[in-house]
Amino acid sequence: MFESVSRGGLWRQVVAGVAAVGMVAGVSVAGAQTDTAGSGAPEEMKKSPKTVLITGANRGLGLEFARQYAEAGWMVIATARRPESATELNAVGVRVMQLDVADAKSVAALAHDLDGDSIDLLINNAGIFPRVGTLTETDFDDVLRTYEVNTIGPMRVTRALLPNLREGRGKTIVSITSGLGSIEKNTSGRYYGYRESKAALNMFARSLATELRDEGLICVVVAPGWVRTDMGGPNANLSPEESITGMRAVIAKLTIADTGTYWDYDGEPMPW
Ligand SMILES: NC(=O)c1ccc[n+]([C@@H]2O[C@H](COP(=O)([O-])OP(=O)(O)OC[C@H]3O[C@@H](n4cnc5c(N)ncnc54)[C@H](OP(=O)(O)O)[C@@H]3O)[C@@H](O)[C@H]2O)c1
Repeated sequence: MFESVSRGGLWRQVVAGVAAVGMVAGVSVAGAQTDTAGSGAPEEMKKSPKTVLITGANRGLGLEFARQYAEAGWMVIATARRPESATELNAVGVRVMQLDVADAKSVAALAHDLDGDSIDLLINNAGIFPRVGTLTETDFDDVLRTYEVNTIGPMRVTRALLPNLREGRGKTIVSITSGLGSIEKNTSGRYYGYRESKAALNMFARSLATELRDEGLICVVVAPGWVRTDMGGPNANLSPEESITGMRAVIAKLTIADTGTYWDYDGEPMPW
């Protein structure tokens, strides 16, 4: 479904393989509304790749998102708290920008720097996991920090970049949630703070979907599965490549009819 191109040949292929780019970049969401690449789309639209902005892209899932979207021909804006030390991300060859999602000034500065630029797809990926067990072990400062990054962070970033998303063709907001955020699937408890932060993120996405539906903006949450990153640890069952390939396939199929939904990385709907 996704073409894989060498970075060197990227632009040639983007221009030559317009229809393919339309499909990939298609977050055919967008596709469904404004990007009918290969049929009646305006020439200018066919030729320009779409833009994705990814938060927390210096390692883990964010880094793999950046790699895969760059390979697929997207314009990638990858954010990191400390761009100067984001060695692996800088090696990907995408646009790297500073962003701490828990810092209102940092978010405002990013929005200011991107003023007037369109964004087709926002991926709210940055997150933290304090890994606590029982309620007694729970540190409430950690809980607050987790809400700040995992819940308020995506709210803040999404609000700041709404003008850019409204200008984009993709009009898609994806927040990376977790299976641990599902109330219905919670039969094992623990992880106080993290579970609630993701359940609240899910509720935010659902509310925002309702608010933005008439504008054609698609807003969903996707769970990456259990993945071998710093957060997921070495025993997780999925590689970042598998998880991101799956999530990109989910994203590529979205249409406005899917707004306000919750997906697993493998395309299965998740229970709230
Ligand atoms: N891995 C899993 O099994 C799993 C499962 C379910 C859900 N998730 C979710 O998937 C997303 C990515 O997780 P991951 O596994 O890639 O985690 P990770 O390896 O720990 O990476 C987390 C990323 O988030 C960034 N980040 C943390 N706080 C931030 C802040 N205040 N502002 C901006 N960026 C910040 C980190 O940047 P620094 O390097 O600067 O700290 C890093 O780039 C998270 O939302 C997580 O909750 C992961």
